Amino acid sequence: MTIDRAVAEKLDAEDPLAHLRDEFVIEDDALIYLDGNSLGRLPEASRDRVRQVLEDDWGGHLIRSWPDRWLELPQRIGDLIGTRLLGAAIGEVIMGDSTTVALYKAISAALDARAERRVVVIEADNFPTDRYIVESLAQQRDLEIRWVTESGSEGVTLERLDEVIDPSVAVVVLSHVDYRSAALLDMAAMTRAIHDVGALGVWDLCHSVGVVPIDLSRDGVDVAVGCTYKYLNGGPGAPSFTYVDRALQPSLQQPIWGWWGRQDMFEMGPGYDPQPDMRSWLSGTPGVLSLAAVEPGVAMIADAGVAAIRAKSVALTELALRLYDDWLAPAGAVLASPRNPDRRGSHLTVTHPDAQHAMPHLVAAGVIPDFRRPDGIRMGFAPLTTRFVDVHDGLAELRAIL
Ligand SMILES: Cc1ncc(COP(=O)(O)O)c(C=O)c1O
Repeated sequence: MTIDRAVAEKLDAEDPLAHLRDEFVIEDDALIYLDGNSLGRLPEASRDRVRQVLEDDWGGHLIRSWPDRWLELPQRIGDLIGTRLLGAAIGEVIMGDSTTVALYKAISAALDARAERRVVVIEADNFPTDRYIVESLAQQRDLEIRWVTESGSEGVTLERLDEVIDPSVAVVVLSHVDYRSAALLDMAAMTRAIHDVGALGVWDLCHSVGVVPIDLSRDGVDVAVGCTYKYLNGGPGAPSFTYVDRALQPSLQQPIWGWWGRQDMFEMGPGYDPQPDMRSWLSGTPGVLSLAAVEPGVAMIADAGVAAIRAKSVALTELALRLYDDWLAPAGAVLASPRNPDRRGSHLTVTHPDAQHAMPHLVAAGVIPDFRRPDGIRMGFAPLTTRFVDVHDGLAELRAIL
């Protein structure tokens, strides 16, 4: 039975988060933006913050801004993300480099902490950068890579993971939410399994942070890395964050020793003596403008509450799923995401033989999803800015084009 647009309008009218859309820069209200899981929209507060850092801090206060305003940013924003979005304690999260570099540091440090073991495990379909980093580290260290395969759109299961891990495994690298299928892994159970064989787990939180409830402390996670430009709305190239369980911090050392990670950095003395806390994960001067842009979006999400955001996210993907069943499946599309909302993040991917040809028509019609080769159309639903009518109208357009 076809869902009437009035259903989506009613969901918008009853949406407790609907007002938050007004806090974003939205020049074209008719644009159906289904790519907030790749580049989140710009919060007005972030635009204002960057202007302030540019004009007051850099323009006015100049280099005095380092001690007075900027030096503390990596820790302050890290703690905000950690305590409000990750279930971490103060002092367990720091802002850093790109996600790619942060993954390199994290996986390298974890491998060092299990140096007697020769195997590293990663999902065969993990995000490319995660795979490449593991391949580079395995080559440098002559390690065996054991690939764990997904069970279709359901992602890696505990059974599959159990099949490949044993006491020879040093580190397991997993994505909490799969970038293509949106499969949401059972972080607690998998972390237990990883620990049962004495290995360390490194989690990529890029597609879950800010939209899926995360409790790294409760789940016993060792190390996690995530980016801030997707659901956290931090802006293009915004810096990543790194979490290290406090109990592990003394035994994990990241490999890129720069002056920012050294104790008393302005002493500029000989030898590298790392900071006794998460500042030891810093390497060089942070990009202050990008870093400053992260804070307002994170604060907005923390205030809205991840539980409320998750509830809307599930409602958005459920609506999309019903429309897929009604409209897209009969047009030849195939669902490539889990049906069970408990095992799904905030995007939905469908495949179709004509997906690539459909993309320019969609964009011309004012609908912006993501295309994932060879034939995937990925629709991201960012609960702070995506309306239920966007889901309805976007999928109606897709149906018409297919
Ligand atoms: C799951 C995942 N990991 C890592 C990255 C790469 O991050 P970066 O380009 O910030 O290094 C992305 C980027 O989209 C991603 O989706």
